[in-house]
Amino acid sequence: EVSLVLGPILLSAARSQTLRRLVSASPLTRPVVDRFVAGETLPDALGAVREGAADGIDATLDFLGEDITSEAEALANRDAYLRLLEALGTEGLAARADVSVKLSAFGQSLREDLALEGARRVAEAARAVGSTLTLDMEDHTTVDSTLGILGELRKDHPETGAVLQSYLFRTEDDAKALAHEGSRVRLVKGAYKEPAEVAFQHKSEVDRNYVRLLKILMAGGGYPMIGSHDPRMIEIAKTLATRNGRTIDSYEFQMLYGIRTEAQHKLVNEGHRVRAYVPYGGDWYGYFMRRLAERPANLVFFLRSFTTR
Ligand code: FDA
Repeated sequence: EVSLVLGPILLSAARSQTLRRLVSASPLTRPVVDRFVAGETLPDALGAVREGAADGIDATLDFLGEDITSEAEALANRDAYLRLLEALGTEGLAARADVSVKLSAFGQSLREDLALEGARRVAEAARAVGSTLTLDMEDHTTVDSTLGILGELRKDHPETGAVLQSYLFRTEDDAKALAHEGSRVRLVKGAYKEPAEVAFQHKSEVDRNYVRLLKILMAGGGYPMIGSHDPRMIEIAKTLATRNGRTIDSYEFQMLYGIRTEAQHKLVNEGHRVRAYVPYGGDWYGYFMRRLAERPANLVFFLRSFTTR
């Protein structure tokens, strides 16, 4: 499979500063980026929430900014979320929108307490307007820290959501620990380049583990959020929901903005709760490269945009 060769190369490219500058500066990149990113500004993000809501699709918003290197950038990212939440409140959109935060964007690698305090402010602001916060999960070196911060936040804000990745060996234990009442958990396959010491390397193993984790979460008392475009995982999730006697509002499906939109509509029509992950902002490079790595067809689409002008 092409993605097995290209995926790791693209994931390395996602961390290259030189490529970041080259790709970001090219005007030809824009149309392709627009497929995956709602826009650069706050009004763009609000527009995407409104559009989704009109089709019965909720949102979780991600202000793009990761791997920052200074405290000032961490605070600027936090403030972007505070402005976003205020606007969601003012515009009457907060009930339809969760916010997703990458703790790396809040300074996790500089000072853990900085990231915790930033996330706490966002959790408070979210509650004040009737929205919620979900902590994205990044590469495996950050999982302990992120789950630690989650635990701290949940003391005052138990509605704070977590993300678990089925490619990691450790996740079965994490899923058991988080499958309790009131616990919101988004289950994904995982989007980073991880070593064989900590993660399954073959798609079939990652998929099998996804099902195993789904069983744990669906049988538990929490609120599973099925973060996948994979039709097989979606069907299995529906079956497990029925088998566990779950009501249709006790779990939800989540997909990325711009990906398999028709499948999102189909789920809505079937009566399921669906949420799109909506990224916006100027720092889209890392996010964009991970999406290319997941699917070579997207890369072909991207490269073609350079040759057809
Ligand atoms: P898989 O990659 O097996 O794809 C199944 C099918 O879905 C493909 O055959 C194709 O049809 C379609 N598809 C998948 N990716 C596509 C793409 N890029 N373009 C077009 N079609 C595509 N990861 C992480 O590590 N931490 C996180 O916090 C999150 N958060 C998150 C939130 C939400 C809402 C989603 C949906 C995903 C994430 N992810 C994530 C990303 C996740 O880990 C994973 O990389 C992608 O979702 C792709 O895996 P799938 O489960 O979709 O299946």
